[in-house]
Amino acid sequence: MNLIFLGPPGAGKGTQAKQIITKFEIPQISTGEILRAAIKEGTDMGKKAKEFIDAGKLVPDEVVVGIIKDRLAEKDCEKGFLLDGFPRTIAQADALGKVLDDMGRKLNHVVCLDVPNEELLKRLTGRRICRQCGEEYHVMFKKPAKEGVCDKCGGTDIYQRADDNEETISNRLKVYSDQTQPLIDYYGERGFLRRIDGVGSFEEIKNRIFDVLK
Ligand code: AP5
Repeated sequence: MNLIFLGPPGAGKGTQAKQIITKFEIPQISTGEILRAAIKEGTDMGKKAKEFIDAGKLVPDEVVVGIIKDRLAEKDCEKGFLLDGFPRTIAQADALGKVLDDMGRKLNHVVCLDVPNEELLKRLTGRRICRQCGEEYHVMFKKPAKEGVCDKCGGTDIYQRADDNEETISNRLKVYSDQTQPLIDYYGERGFLRRIDGVGSFEEIKNRIFDVLK
């Protein structure tokens, strides 16, 4: 199964991806996570990416296309992949098409989660993450059983992403509408697009996605 998850920041791409990769036994490839790991490690790429991410802008296409090209060549992608947060521009989508053609592979579905901006703002400002294992929480919608303690690993450092403040979120939403939303038509015209209502409970949205992937 070769999938793309498309949708604005906070639409639930990362949350829902976890369920899909378990079922289909494919890796989740999140360009955002790869870039944040590079920032944490202090690599040259991480240093370059940080200024774009902190400003809510997109990292240059050649950087993320290079990341994806290398990642798709790894062995664990042989059975398929779920791209989370890539592509985000028409140039990235064209580059992905070429990489897949060269590998003799085809996309199956582009799942697009639709969520209105006021809901996105609530989700992003309230998101919290466990620094130890990466489990995601929300101050209203998904609290850990014991405040400040991760349900999954028991870690006690639950933090807020640096780009989850209102000013950066509003830039990210604008960038999405200007540069990423055109991909809805791009993949629609090519017959890959599956639009999903992304408002509802975690379980309801999961079921909508599974129905489409059947
Ligand atoms: P990235 O890390 O990809 O962030 P994003 O696209 O902005 O997406 P998010 O991770 O913020 O949201 P999500 O849809 O995964 O939502 P989630 O499931 O966490 O990118 C970050 C930055 O990296 C970019 O701004 C850019 O600078 C750079 N970058 C990355 N890829 C790039 C690319 N291809 N090209 C160039 N630059 C790139 O959910 C959010 C919250 O809502 C959570 O707290 C969750 O618990 C909650 N929630 C989820 N579902 C529900 C629900 N149904 N009801 C209530 N709450 C819910």
